[in-house]
Amino acid sequence: MKNAIDLTGKVALITGGGGGIGEGICRVFDACGATVVAHDISDEIAKNAVRAVGPQIHTVSGDITVEKNVEVIVDTVMAAHERIDVLVNNAGVPDAGQDILKVRYPDWRWVVDVNFAAPYLLSHAVARKCMVPNRSGVILNTASITGLRTLKGGETAYSASKAALVSLTRKLALEWGEFGIRVNAVAPGAINAGFLKNAALEYNEQVQEEDLLQMIPLDRLGEPEDVGWAFAFLACDLAGYITGEVLTVNGGFGI
Ligand SMILES: NC(=O)c1ccc[n+]([C@@H]2O[C@H](COP(=O)([O-])OP(=O)(O)OC[C@H]3O[C@@H](n4cnc5c(N)ncnc54)[C@H](O)[C@@H]3O)[C@@H](O)[C@H]2O)c1
Repeated sequence: MKNAIDLTGKVALITGGGGGIGEGICRVFDACGATVVAHDISDEIAKNAVRAVGPQIHTVSGDITVEKNVEVIVDTVMAAHERIDVLVNNAGVPDAGQDILKVRYPDWRWVVDVNFAAPYLLSHAVARKCMVPNRSGVILNTASITGLRTLKGGETAYSASKAALVSLTRKLALEWGEFGIRVNAVAPGAINAGFLKNAALEYNEQVQEEDLLQMIPLDRLGEPEDVGWAFAFLACDLAGYITGEVLTVNGGFGI
């Protein structure tokens, strides 16, 4: 059966595509017919998307907190594919620990740079070089439920950076609508990937699945593809009149 969500002919650049939720977005976009360019901080990590999804996935790499790198990334994709129809700002990092008083400023700043400044740099470069001249395009941001409501316990830079990303989503939707550019965000809840698995190990802090499930009416963690399908819908022409929105994908967390 052909997918109702059809991304055939669209070139999609997906940051943080080398793992976790990003890999799920790559998988879904590929299934919907998009030309997928998976980005990550190194070529080796970006190639995870090729290993996971297939040889048809293209890759590009670079630290997106560096403005020069962002220009090179966008130029590289444009040179290879002539345009970028969909940008998914998905790369992100969690806070370096739960206790606000112990988090050092450089670590706090890094979270804000990756989660908030980098999506701005990428959106700006893609709009300037491609979407505004073409008078069309879709920019999508991976926000988080913690950017929409404040939860107790850590995630100080993280939740602030995601709230700022939601604000940026609305602002760019407002400013760039006249160019035919739609800007939306997806706010995942607890997804069984990336942060949720790694952060607990990295910072030696226990993320208890049973505790999370008590707050999730659908009684399961989300999968990367759950998030991917929401992005695919917002990327496709069926969502052609939707901009400046945040779609939560959280199994009913906190309703
Ligand atoms: N996992 C969850 O439960 C959850 C919930 C809500 C939101 N999110 C968001 O989803 C997105 C993906 O997270 P994930 O859980 O899949 O984690 P992840 O660590 O698997 O993926 C993040 C990716 O971003 C890349 N990245 C980080 N810093 C970068 C930089 N400076 N330049 C280039 N690439 C960089 C990493 O290499 C990694 O591949 C993030 O924005 C995160 O905030 C995750």
